[in-house]
Amino acid sequence: MSKRRKRANKTFENVPVVDAGAKGKSVAKTEDGAVIFLKNAVPGDVVDIQTFKKRKSYFEGEATVFHTLSDRRTEPVCKHFGTCGGCKWQHMSYESQLFFKQKEVVENLTRIGHLELPEVTPIAGSEEQYYYRNKMEFSFSASRWLTLEEIQSEVQIEDKKALGFHIPGMWDKILHLDECHLHPAIGEQIRLSVHAFAEAEQIEYFNPREKTGVLRTLMLRMSSTGEIMVVIQFFKEDEKARISLLEHLKNSFPQIKSLQYIINEKANDTIYDQEVICYDGRDHIFEEMEGLQFKINAKSFYQTNSKQAFELYKITRDFAGLTGEELVYDLYTGTGTIAQFVAKKANHVVGIESVPVAIEDAKANAAHNGIDNTTFFAGDMRDVFTADFIAEHGAPDVVITDPPRDGMHKDVVAQLLALAAPRIVYVSCNSATQARDLALLNEQYKVVKYQPVDMFPQTHHVESVVLLEIIK
Ligand SMILES: C[S@@+](CC[C@H](N)C(=O)[O-])C[C@H]1O[C@@H](n2cnc3c(N)ncnc32)[C@H](O)[C@@H]1O
Repeated sequence: MSKRRKRANKTFENVPVVDAGAKGKSVAKTEDGAVIFLKNAVPGDVVDIQTFKKRKSYFEGEATVFHTLSDRRTEPVCKHFGTCGGCKWQHMSYESQLFFKQKEVVENLTRIGHLELPEVTPIAGSEEQYYYRNKMEFSFSASRWLTLEEIQSEVQIEDKKALGFHIPGMWDKILHLDECHLHPAIGEQIRLSVHAFAEAEQIEYFNPREKTGVLRTLMLRMSSTGEIMVVIQFFKEDEKARISLLEHLKNSFPQIKSLQYIINEKANDTIYDQEVICYDGRDHIFEEMEGLQFKINAKSFYQTNSKQAFELYKITRDFAGLTGEELVYDLYTGTGTIAQFVAKKANHVVGIESVPVAIEDAKANAAHNGIDNTTFFAGDMRDVFTADFIAEHGAPDVVITDPPRDGMHKDVVAQLLALAAPRIVYVSCNSATQARDLALLNEQYKVVKYQPVDMFPQTHHVESVVLLEIIK
């Protein structure tokens, strides 16, 4: 065995699992202080460990023997738990998931941000812990991922087709899902029906290595109003197969208000540069929130947990402390959902976003909702959110910012410092980059309130909302 392998392959016995760490892994710590990240344990377990990777300050490994099972454990509901990367925390009680999510936000803001924090407002948990996702994207594969038991068994495997999720980190390996508990039952019925029909009609599934096959991806969007969008992506045009499958869906599921397809012959399966063709119904569905309607097309961004998005937006609006007099900037506005949500409590809202079609949607939605006190601009935040822009559109009383996972560019943070708005509400899906940005804002702002929000039960992801006030 090479020296490197020797250092990576170690066994540890009777190690307590003490924490839940980054990317949904748990953290075990030996008496000698060695730190090991594990995929298959829960804080509170005591385990024997086999490590397989050595990093600078920790190991990665697997629990091989469980001496004590944690009180935080619960029975996963899904038979694919452990293989599918969709819900890494199904084996942990929801109460514990919330505990560790809140802990992560508090620790990131403290350790990375070095911030002086008030008492955390307890995490807003999700009423629905399963079946909450309004958008699902599944892939077809001609050669499905086989489990270890299947490989080890002597049984000849006839059925190789898969319709499901990518195995984490593997672009060409799809796990076939017999069940999925993340989206509403109707979505599950549609997915299983597509699979059964395609099998019966012998429509070929995509082979990403050989670039063959017909069926490529299936996207479902389900709004809280009960409207459904189905988008099927084909690798090549096979008119007979395409029409038979789309007709099958049209006749079997009257809830489908938007039935669309894409013929995508390029190497990757992202749809953003592809023409989406409407086969039946409209090219959009509607989502509703507090009397507002949002038009959602195949390419639109919309928060994937509609009920928790409502909670997140209420917390954001509450933190903004609006009286009706304020000029509000909504940075990274997407399709302008936050901007429209706060508009009736503000004098005017200015939304900025880099994706031009999202801005078109934002304008169309505002018009559709009869909102006349919003203005939207498309462009990179660094280029649009400038001193000249602020001079032209007015200095905001409140800035709401909801950047992507990477957080804000340092030039945008510098502009916020130069602007010195009285209040900033910072919404983030990554409290580590949020903490980094807050550390920079710290010279001029103090954290007045902060609250984590759980948008994605059964996963380690957590949203964090922070209210900053200018130090006078
Ligand atoms: C987390 S989403 C927020 C969406 C919106 N606030 C909502 O709740 O629906 C972040 C948004 O930032 C946009 N974005 C990413 N990088 C950007 C940049 N450099 N300049 C402007 N917008 C950007 C993305 O397109 C995305 O719509």
